[in-house]
Amino acid sequence: MTIIAVTGATGQLGRLVIEQLKTRAPAESLVALVRDPAKAADLGVEVRAADYDEPATLAAALAGVDVLLLISSDAIGQRVAQHRNVIEAAKATGVKRIAYTSILRADDTPIGLGVEHRATEAMIRESGLAYTLLRNGWYLENYAGAIVGALHAGAFVGSADQGRISAAARADYADAAAIVLTSDGHEGQTYELAGDEAFTMAELAAETSRQTGRDLPYNNLPEDAYAEVLKSIGLPPPVAAMLAQSDVGAAQGALFNADRRLSRLIGRPTTPWAAFVAGVLESQ
Ligand SMILES: NC(=O)c1ccc[n+]([C@@H]2O[C@H](COP(=O)([O-])OP(=O)(O)OC[C@H]3O[C@@H](n4cnc5c(N)ncnc54)[C@H](OP(=O)(O)O)[C@@H]3O)[C@@H](O)[C@H]2O)c1
Repeated sequence: MTIIAVTGATGQLGRLVIEQLKTRAPAESLVALVRDPAKAADLGVEVRAADYDEPATLAAALAGVDVLLLISSDAIGQRVAQHRNVIEAAKATGVKRIAYTSILRADDTPIGLGVEHRATEAMIRESGLAYTLLRNGWYLENYAGAIVGALHAGAFVGSADQGRISAAARADYADAAAIVLTSDGHEGQTYELAGDEAFTMAELAAETSRQTGRDLPYNNLPEDAYAEVLKSIGLPPPVAAMLAQSDVGAAQGALFNADRRLSRLIGRPTTPWAAFVAGVLESQ
């Protein structure tokens, strides 16, 4: 039996990957690698403690694992060291294949978050392990806050200008990851994964206006001004700066991809963004 393990399994993407894996492989072949096992009791698979900052936990947790999904850490700035710990432990314990959740166009993205993904991809290539790089585009869920914020403020704001954004639902990326982990033919592959239908922020605003019957325009702001808005609603300054810089990257096309590789991989269209808007509005 091929043993498949997933890091970050108590995270939002990780939980969905475990759910998808359970439909594709025997539950007893699945291992959830988590920082805090107390949060993982409901996953329904074997749980092992694995902290990216604690190499000893990683070596123990990866014993007997054949295929590993490394879900990128959320500790921006510490991720290269953390991911290195996982990759080294995977090599030492005899993991046969590693998949990694990277960023769209990791090799040339203007988005600052790409730096750590680029470095991680390089470490994986140099590790000698068989690998698959899942270069995930933006999550649709990233826009839930913008939609709710616009309902309150009366307008969308951002720095994405006319940039087209091929976002997809976390569940779509999770499905793709589960397929890659449980099927052959993905070794050495780098997949640029994104939603089928792209939108601009003005189109997101227009669709939200249409669905609510309100006039909710999109106001494009310079990067600094948008970062100030994000700080004013309580985001820590480094996070506000990172989000504003990412939006400028979106304006430059960094989040656009028309390959439809994700829908081909999962064998169905990706979640339509207008349906995502409807879901957010229904939840209000
Ligand atoms: N494509 C996009 O739009 C987008 C957006 C946001 C983030 N991301 C990236 O994609 C990843 C997955 O997204 P997500 O929505 O699932 O994020 P998330 O819900 O924040 O999950 C991050 C996971 O990383 C785990 N983690 C953090 N530090 C760790 C450590 N030291 N040792 C072990 N595990 C650790 C967390 O553990 P706990 O469960 O214990 O907290 C959590 O399970 C993120 O971490 C980030 O790198 C992508």
